[in-house]
Amino acid sequence: METITAESYMEGLYAEDTVLERVKEVIRTQNMPEISIAPGYGRLLTMLVTMIGATKVLEIGALGGYSGICLARGLKEGGKLISLELKQEFADVAKQNLTEAGLGELVEYRIGEALIHLNELLEQGERFDFFFIDADKVNYPNYLELAIKLANPGAIIAGDNTLMRGKVVDANQTKAAVQAMRTFNQLVATDPRLESTILPAYDGLALARVK
Ligand code: DHB
Ligand code: MG
Repeated sequence: METITAESYMEGLYAEDTVLERVKEVIRTQNMPEISIAPGYGRLLTMLVTMIGATKVLEIGALGGYSGICLARGLKEGGKLISLELKQEFADVAKQNLTEAGLGELVEYRIGEALIHLNELLEQGERFDFFFIDADKVNYPNYLELAIKLANPGAIIAGDNTLMRGKVVDANQTKAAVQAMRTFNQLVATDPRLESTILPAYDGLALARVK
């Protein structure tokens, strides 16, 4: 018998999202990492983007487009998602998946090192209403700082994997990525430019509002 967890109970209340299930299927068949965000957090991203009336959303780490679909679904008329992705192959899959979801026109992918794109966007004077950080964990503190600098007042910054499968709370885990996530969580909790909370469900999600 399958164990019912608090999370699986909650997920069981919702009808299957056929668009997002298809994305997960594509990710599997393409042998891409099966690490899309939790369905409950996907719904939360859509709600938050909708609630703040975001027109400019920035995603760091596209993978197969699962979170991209959740973000784009919340965009206001005329809104746009810019998604930074290290790998061209992943961005191609993500673009295809957003297109099949009827959201392809709303997204623009930028390929390569996210830090370079973020600094470029900053130099160009671009500003955003919503950020979703879900890329290489060692750079989370850098992504946070750049997101704050790129933020319109009241912008929301969300960050996936704040627990790293429990590694952040295990003192024996000393790898750079884990230490960076601890730093990121600390910064989210204490930076005076932010108000925030960090949700411990699934693999953890940081939510911050730029004052
Ligand atoms: C893992 C999960 C993620 O959501 C991610 O962004 C990176 C890694 C993981 O479970 O390994
Ligand atoms: Mg993630």
